[in-house]
Amino acid sequence: MKAVVQRRYGSAVLGDLDVPVPGQGEVLLEVRAAGVDMGTWHLLAGKPYLVRFIGFGFRGPKSPVPGRDVSGVVTQIGPGVTEFSVGDEVFGTCEGSFAEYAVSPVARLARKPKGVSFTEAAAVPISGGTALQGLRGVQPGQRVLVLGAGGGVGSYGVQIAKALGAHVTGVCSTRKLDLVRSLGADEVVDYTVADFTGTYDLILDCGGNRSLSRLREASTPRGSVVLVGAETGGAITGGFERALLAAALNPFVSQKLSLLMSEERGDVFDELRVMIEAGSVRAAVEREFPLSEALDAVEHVYSRRSVGKVVVTI
Ligand SMILES: NC(=O)c1ccc[n+]([C@@H]2O[C@H](COP(=O)([O-])OP(=O)(O)OC[C@H]3O[C@@H](n4cnc5c(N)ncnc54)[C@H](OP(=O)(O)O)[C@@H]3O)[C@@H](O)[C@H]2O)c1
Repeated sequence: MKAVVQRRYGSAVLGDLDVPVPGQGEVLLEVRAAGVDMGTWHLLAGKPYLVRFIGFGFRGPKSPVPGRDVSGVVTQIGPGVTEFSVGDEVFGTCEGSFAEYAVSPVARLARKPKGVSFTEAAAVPISGGTALQGLRGVQPGQRVLVLGAGGGVGSYGVQIAKALGAHVTGVCSTRKLDLVRSLGADEVVDYTVADFTGTYDLILDCGGNRSLSRLREASTPRGSVVLVGAETGGAITGGFERALLAAALNPFVSQKLSLLMSEERGDVFDELRVMIEAGSVRAAVEREFPLSEALDAVEHVYSRRSVGKVVVTI
């Protein structure tokens, strides 16, 4: 099969590999599309260096093929699989979706939402699942602030918070204002002109790396600050210090400060499927790239040229 092959961090090329064989509890997918997010770049580059210590491979990447978000068709069933059959259309995550075929555990898959393309479905799992898990507990009428609202996670954050009945303020740069408005934000703030004001019951922090004191100042006394991530934290830890500080501070303050560690789970993706089929969430796909240009797709996201989501089609 054709695949993007990555033997060491910082270097990958289009090449040929054997089609993988599904093991216990796994299925083989004919990949139709692969979503791209900031995490794809981190695992290609091996940066921040922290990623090498948390299970993705110390000297080089454990997976020879990059890409995790996937949509495709089940073509082979591994031992013990009862959840899916050959021919089923699914979406979720795997190790190595930048390829014509990929193996995925069924626990990381759900049925593809009806009425959406493979491209749209592949743009959902990691970003949509992260936003959904970060917004757990939001009640109708609450005020939610989404920082990085025009990015991958933030674009779902705005829509999911709206679907939960919240009043949503999205913060983004100028060229993403129209997208964030179109996703249903009640208010939009262009941070290049002026920063946000007011207080919020939940802050979903997907960009900007603002200080904890700034985030606490914008949080109601019993509000939640959910740290998703930022790209301005340095090559070694990627800003993880802010999360450690939040964990240390959390027991001593009235607000709930947490680092989100999102899980890639089929049941979470199935919740998203229901929201997509109900029309309350959609994938804001900005651009598609063919497999031969998968690395350009990653660079497009990393260099912050993307508006919404980017997908590699196979
Ligand atoms: N914790 C987890 O489990 C988890 C899961 C997924 C992702 N992440 C991390 O979460 C972060 C977001 O991921 P993503 O895929 O959504 O990345 P993304 O698509 O690059 O989105 C980040 C957004 O932040 C915006 N931004 C930058 N500076 C900002 C500022 N000062 N104020 C407001 N917005 C600002 C960027 O827009 P402009 O460039 O236009 O400013 C961009 O749209 C990444 O660091 C990623 O690694 C964490």
